[in-house]
Amino acid sequence: MPNIYPKFTDAELKELSLIRDALPRHVGVIMDGNGRWAKKRLLPRSAGHRAGMEALRGIVRFSHSVGIDALTVYAFSTENWRRPRSEIDALFSLLEEYFHKEIDELDANGVRIRIIGDKTAFEGKLKQILETAEGRTANNNGLCFNIALNYGSRAEIVHAVNSLIESGAKAGEVTEEMLDRRLYTSGLPELDLIVRTAGEQRLSNFLLWQCAYAEFVFTSTLFPDLSPEIYTECLREYAGRTRRFGKVL
Ligand code: IPE
Ligand code: IPE
Ligand code: MG
Repeated sequence: MPNIYPKFTDAELKELSLIRDALPRHVGVIMDGNGRWAKKRLLPRSAGHRAGMEALRGIVRFSHSVGIDALTVYAFSTENWRRPRSEIDALFSLLEEYFHKEIDELDANGVRIRIIGDKTAFEGKLKQILETAEGRTANNNGLCFNIALNYGSRAEIVHAVNSLIESGAKAGEVTEEMLDRRLYTSGLPELDLIVRTAGEQRLSNFLLWQCAYAEFVFTSTLFPDLSPEIYTECLREYAGRTRRFGKVL
């Protein structure tokens, strides 16, 4: 499998009106609007999820090319179990298909895959596929591509607290770093930017702890229509923000 994701030079970034130093290191994407994309076309919701999968391929490649270190995408929330069983099954079978089709290419391009969320819910073939994808790419050192599956930020924090208690941590001695290290995102760069598609302006239980100082960009574009060009506009909007982190500049 050839190495086919180009790495953009500074000049190529400039052509896109992007500056290397003003790029986020870690981007979170709430992939929303697949259902609406399908509805507009009188197609079943599963067709929207398939189109979303295609858009995701483009976003992963492009993130690698511009030199983003980590991309975390919200693919299935702990609340999404409330959807019809048929839609859940369609989503998981698409996920299997995604890994089946993409894993060679992602691996060849140095992408490191991490599944974040409560993985105990997955069994059988899907569990095996997810474990293989993580195991095979664990030692890669390109883009960290994190897929949030059966992910809920509150559950993640509760999991971290339980793990701290199990480790014998004493009241009064717990620090932010200790809790941070027990989150699924441990070891990743600070979250710089959250992009949410489809016009919704909420987090829906995504990276609540990690977004403490992240910038938010909301676009009305439905996720299946999130082209590298529109994603670039989000990166440009981020680059134009002033981040103060509480200081006077
Ligand atoms: C996002 O698209 C995909 C998942 C939540 C799995 P939606 O399925 O939420 O699409 P809308 O919001 O109904 O348009
Ligand atoms: C958030 O989208 C979850 C994912 C993108 C996986 P939803 O469509 O589930 O969020 P709500 O229900 O509109 O908040
Ligand atoms: Mg939605």
